Amino acid sequence: MEQRRENIVMFPFMAQGHIIPFLALALKIEQRENYSITFVNTPQNINKLRPSLPPNSSIRLLEIPFCSSDHGLPPDSENTDGLPYHLMIHLLEGSSSLKPSFTKLISTLIDEQNGHPPLCIVADIFLGWTVDVAHQFGIFHALFSGAGGFGLACYHSIWSNLPHRKTDSDEFLLPDFPEAGSLHLTQLTSTMAAANGTDPWSVFQGGNLPKWPSSDGLLFNTVEELDQIGLLYFRQKIGKPIWPIGPILLSIDNRDRAGKEAGITPEFCTQWLNTKPLNSVLYISFGSQNTISAKQMMQLATAVEASGKNFIWVVRPPLGFDINSEFKADEWLPEGFKQRMEDQNRGLLVHRWAPQVKILSHHAISAFLSHCGWNSVLESLSQGVPMIGWAMGAEQFYNVKLLEEKIGVCVEVARGVSFEVRHGDIVEKIELVMNGTEKGKEMRRKACEVREMIRDAVKDEDGFKGSSVTAMDEFLNAALLMRKKKQMGAE
Ligand SMILES: *[C@@H]1O[C@H](CO)[C@@H](O)[C@H](O)[C@H]1NC(C)=O
Ligand SMILES: *[C@@H]1O[C@H](CO)[C@@H](O)[C@H](O)[C@H]1NC(C)=O
Ligand SMILES: *[C@@H]1O[C@H](CO)[C@@H](O)[C@H](O)[C@H]1NC(C)=O
Ligand SMILES: *[C@@H]1O[C@H](CO)[C@@H](O)[C@H](O)[C@H]1NC(C)=O
Repeated sequence: MEQRRENIVMFPFMAQGHIIPFLALALKIEQRENYSITFVNTPQNINKLRPSLPPNSSIRLLEIPFCSSDHGLPPDSENTDGLPYHLMIHLLEGSSSLKPSFTKLISTLIDEQNGHPPLCIVADIFLGWTVDVAHQFGIFHALFSGAGGFGLACYHSIWSNLPHRKTDSDEFLLPDFPEAGSLHLTQLTSTMAAANGTDPWSVFQGGNLPKWPSSDGLLFNTVEELDQIGLLYFRQKIGKPIWPIGPILLSIDNRDRAGKEAGITPEFCTQWLNTKPLNSVLYISFGSQNTISAKQMMQLATAVEASGKNFIWVVRPPLGFDINSEFKADEWLPEGFKQRMEDQNRGLLVHRWAPQVKILSHHAISAFLSHCGWNSVLESLSQGVPMIGWAMGAEQFYNVKLLEEKIGVCVEVARGVSFEVRHGDIVEKIELVMNGTEKGKEMRRKACEVREMIRDAVKDEDGFKGSSVTAMDEFLNAALLMRKKKQMGAE
């Protein structure tokens, strides 16, 4: 008899920053011969995803209906992409309305397989309610966090305790996570800063976070050796297995995401970088969802020019303009900046999208000025590139804290879009990392150490299994064990 492939159902929250890591994980698990994947999301997201699947993939995409206008959202808003920030809470709240359809979907999957349920449901950390559905059918449930352990630990602790509400000081400790060190009000997102326990975000988190300990374990897109403090927080808090299985990165640079106007081809990028000396280029990108203010953009451009460094800068219209509209260099950058940089062959201004992995892996790259979203962090560290941190939101402020204070591969330059950033300060940070200072050399040395740490974690050869490979084995074994116990119980 042919061996049945065990089905794993995957369900990310409706945001590109969540869907992409889930897809990366799905493709990774698919490489293990005994598993099939069912990928669940709302119709628009599934349609958007379809062209990104490699042709040889057997991942099954299933839609579940969602009516955005039922939840105070504009029609056809099924993704945080392009959604104004203040509406994101409606998408979060609305996502729990998917419970009945998701339950039905699981029930149909079981019927299709003659009563044989999926091996496991892997769901988003924002979809804590899925644990009830899984356990209703006796299915193993795991949460998957695309964020790192430390960043998510701070995030979890802040929402669980609202520590800034219990002090008059601008600085505070996290009561259940003092190991993180002190935080400052400027390291809170606007919704966190405003939270008082009864606002919609607090109410959402108050419903979601307490579900986590009911799950059968937590998968993290991180590396054990890199992220021990944060992982320990969850081991103690959740009391369930924590599996750091990263870095799981989508190796195909997905050009489709940026549409037809996508900035430059990977080939052009490589050719340009080939003309630059070793460790001489600064790469600047704030991630696909963010931009800075017009004032900050001027300061950053002035700094980049004053630093004398080569650069690749992924530019988007500043705050207040449509992020997907045309970039007006004459208006948003210092007068003549673009022309001067072109004349000197010093920099590439790339519109909206750049082949980031390709760029970071080039030996000409010296540092990455980044919003420090966890995917960017993993991509940078996987190539041993030190960072200049400018967090924009979510848990990015804590990623910067981890990278700067605990790991030593980053210096922080600014926080968010209202930060009064001065070009002189930016130049100072750029020179610190790129001008061969002791500190800069130390950062690069550590980043290379971390690169080796990451390579070891994913190694699976000659009987040696790295920590991430072992964690993935343990996760799958835990799910199989629960299945076996159930079958024995039924006999
Ligand atoms: C897949 O399942 C078969 C049969 O149960 C087993 O012999 C084999 O070792 C499994 N392969 C992997 C990679 O787990
Ligand atoms: C699909 O092809 C890619 C590239 O050749 C390979 O790495 C991957 O393992 C394949 N996936 C499956 C499910 O066969
Ligand atoms: C909490 O904040 C909300 C606004 O987000 C406000 O309506 C409410 O009155 C506040 N509650 C308390 C107890 O301050
Ligand atoms: C840093 O290096 C640049 C050249 O890349 C040079 O122009 C600048 O003067 C240096 N700054 C310091 C403080 O040495």
